[in-house]
Amino acid sequence: MQEKFIIKGKQKLDGTLSVSGTKNEALKVIPACLLTQEKCVAKNIPDIVDVRAMLDILKDIGADVKKIEDHHFEITCGKSITNKLPEAKVAAQRASIMLVGPLLARFGEVSFPHPGGCVIGKRPIDLFLEFYKQMGVSIAVHDSHYQMSVDKLQGIDYIFPRVSVTGTESLILAGCLAEGETIIRNAAMEPEIEALAEILNDAGAKIIGAGTPTISIKGVAKLNGFNAVMLPDRIECGTFAIMGVATNSHLKIENCRPDHLGILWSHLEKMGAKFKLSEDSVEILPTDKPLKAQDIHTHEYPGFVTDLQAPFTVLLTQTTGMSLVHETIYEGRLFYVDALNTMGGKIIMCDPHRVVFDGPMHLYGRKVVSPDIRAGIALVIAAMIAEGDSEISNVHLIDRGYENIEERLKAVGAEIERVSIC
Ligand code: EPZ
Repeated sequence: MQEKFIIKGKQKLDGTLSVSGTKNEALKVIPACLLTQEKCVAKNIPDIVDVRAMLDILKDIGADVKKIEDHHFEITCGKSITNKLPEAKVAAQRASIMLVGPLLARFGEVSFPHPGGCVIGKRPIDLFLEFYKQMGVSIAVHDSHYQMSVDKLQGIDYIFPRVSVTGTESLILAGCLAEGETIIRNAAMEPEIEALAEILNDAGAKIIGAGTPTISIKGVAKLNGFNAVMLPDRIECGTFAIMGVATNSHLKIENCRPDHLGILWSHLEKMGAKFKLSEDSVEILPTDKPLKAQDIHTHEYPGFVTDLQAPFTVLLTQTTGMSLVHETIYEGRLFYVDALNTMGGKIIMCDPHRVVFDGPMHLYGRKVVSPDIRAGIALVIAAMIAEGDSEISNVHLIDRGYENIEERLKAVGAEIERVSIC
């Protein structure tokens, strides 16, 4: 069923938002349960479309998935597990590729379609195919379908030619039960990767260096069950903080890790935004001073996180002066600016990686379409600051990344309604 959000313009928010568990950690920890036949406990799991889909895939291949209470699951991948992946569900999201390593470790073979996900670029998996081949995997490629087989995964010394988050996480999972040692060089350093390694080490893995550019994984014979509590979602925390500054609101954000968003606070400070940070909360305060334009260049952690690029660009349209937004990671993650220009923006696309504009811009409420998770929530922020009402369709893409979003925003005064279109 198609749905849209109807959002009033010129909104002010006031109240406290609590941050959910991290989507991009849960989507790796759930597949990691396949590395053991013992019971795994996963807590602070966000109730979002992509996580429900990942849990469904595990159920489809024979896992016992028990919901103990909201956000809390027990997952056992016992003898009933098969390697027959449900193709349509696997093709629907990028994180499905995390299932490949554990299934190769368990069965020595797996076949799967090219993993989908947000349309923010080509989303290739060439690096995954490269390191699996080096681990001894034979790979047959049919159109966009991969047939993989291996006797036993072999540890390798692999240098990523470009930093890859799920690439690093996949190689960590594949290395856990491989023969010998796997060394990952030019590894991604996201906080979720360090958290994943801690969870696996508690289950008996031998991983050192996660969170640094060089990670070593010494293969072991088996892993025990684990107990995992997801980190607070830094992207959700950053999104809410940007929303608070953009609407010039008084907004408290709790249950979060501001220390995972260093660059964001430094840009907001240079911009002249008013906010207070504590160890697990952020308080955004209104200001009557104009905000100053900024140049941002997205970069792997600890640089400016690409998943906040779209919300931050909406905020930048309200600042005074010239801004440059340089999306260095994805070649298709700036096209949502067309929707902002429909709303009255004057954003110039220099090339697929760079836009420039002179703010502040007066935005008008319009009917727009959410192109992906993060651009979708960015358009919600744009609609909140625009003059007049807006309609945002394709809201199921926003539901992929933000739990119960309109109810949570209403609780801090947002005027947003979810309406079914057909
Ligand atoms: C993860 O995507 C996240 N998704 C993305 O979040 C996030 O934007 C991205 O990391 C960067 O931080 C999940 O964790 C499920 P990459 P991922 O592999 O792993 C290129 C969201 O909104 N590359 O780090 O797919 C790739 O094209 C989502 O929550 C290759 O060239 O990102 C990109 O340019 C969107 N070949 C760059 O590397 C490969 O084999 C980074 O990709 C793999 C990647």
